[in-house]
Amino acid sequence: MYKLALIGFGVVGQGFLELLSEKEDILRKNYQLEFQVVAISDAQKGSVFSGQGIDFRKALEWVKAGKSLNDLPGEKNGMDALSTIESCGADILFEATWTDIKTGEPALSHIRKALEKGMHVVTTNKGPLARYGKQLIEEAESRGLILRYEGTVMSGTPLLNLIRECLAGCEILEARGILNGTTNFILTKMSEGQSYEEALKTAQKLGYAEAVPDADVLGWDALAKVCILANTVFGASIIPDPEKLPCKGITGIRKEDIENAKREDQIWKLIARVYRENGAVKVRVWPEKIPLTDPLAGVTGAKNALTIKTDALEEITIAGFGAGRTPTGYAMLIDFIDIHKNLRRR
Ligand code: HSE
Repeated sequence: MYKLALIGFGVVGQGFLELLSEKEDILRKNYQLEFQVVAISDAQKGSVFSGQGIDFRKALEWVKAGKSLNDLPGEKNGMDALSTIESCGADILFEATWTDIKTGEPALSHIRKALEKGMHVVTTNKGPLARYGKQLIEEAESRGLILRYEGTVMSGTPLLNLIRECLAGCEILEARGILNGTTNFILTKMSEGQSYEEALKTAQKLGYAEAVPDADVLGWDALAKVCILANTVFGASIIPDPEKLPCKGITGIRKEDIENAKREDQIWKLIARVYRENGAVKVRVWPEKIPLTDPLAGVTGAKNALTIKTDALEEITIAGFGAGRTPTGYAMLIDFIDIHKNLRRR
C-alpha cells in the first residue's frame, strides 16, 4: 500500500486524482497496486493531511465546489508544501505546482526535500527538469529512489517511456518535433486563413495559451522541453536560456509566408531539435517550412509530435496531446505504475 502526497492541486493534480478514482479497481486487479492519498497541499487551495489516508474523492468535490482544503476534515490542515513533505511520511511525492523555467522553483525545493526524505518522485514540472534534470536524476539514483517526469514533455503522450523502455536497445541519434501546442494551434489556424492575432485570441479562449503567451510564442516553452530531452536522454548539461541558445518563435510569421509555403506543398511548424555536432549535444527551436510528406506536417491543432532518429529502427514518430487536464494527469498515473513495476522487480 503506497502512501501518496500531492503538492499542487490545480488542473494537473486534479486530473491525476480523477484518473486514480476512475482506475483504482483496475490498478488493484491488473497490477496489485494499492494506495492511500495521505496529503494534498496547494498554495491557493489549502492543505489537508491524514496519516491513515484522506478521502481524496471528497477532496476533489470540495475543491470543485470552491471550498478550501484547510476546512476538509483531516488530522492536520494548513501545512505548506515543504512542511507537508517533511512530515507526511509518504512513499511517493507527486509534484504539480507552477513552472518557473528560470529557477525551477518552488518545485526544485519540493523534489529535493522529498528525495532527502526517501520518497520516490513524480513531477510534471518543466522548470526543475529543464535546468537540473541530470543532477536530480543522479540525486535520486544515489539514494536508490526513482524520479519520473513523463508529463514534462508532450504531457501523457508516452514519449519518455517509449525512449526509456522500448528504444532501450537503440542509440538515439537525434530528435526533432513540435513540442508546443499553443504555437502549433496558431500556425494551424493561420493556415486555415486566420490572422496571427485572431488565432492567438482563439488559443487563449480555449485555454491553450497563457494570458501573457510569451513563453509559448517566443519558443521558450519548446526550448525548455527540448533541453529536458538533451539533458536527460542525451546526457547533456544545457541551460535553457533563450538569450544564449538558438531560439526563435512564431511572431514573425505572416499570412504571406503561410500562403507561399502552401504553394510549394510545404507548411510552417515551430520545430525543436536536439542533435549532435562534432561530438557536442546541441538544441535549437526555430520556425521551419517542412514538406507536406513529413510526418510532422499532419500534426495539427494543439497536438505535439516528435520524430526520433535511431540507429537500429531509423525514424519513429510519436504524436498526441501535449497539454491538458487528463493527458497530463495520465502522465502522473503512468509514472506511478512504472515506479510500482520497478519496485516489484527489486
Ligand atoms: N503552454 C504549453 C503548450 C502547455 O502550449 O504546449 C504545455 O506544456
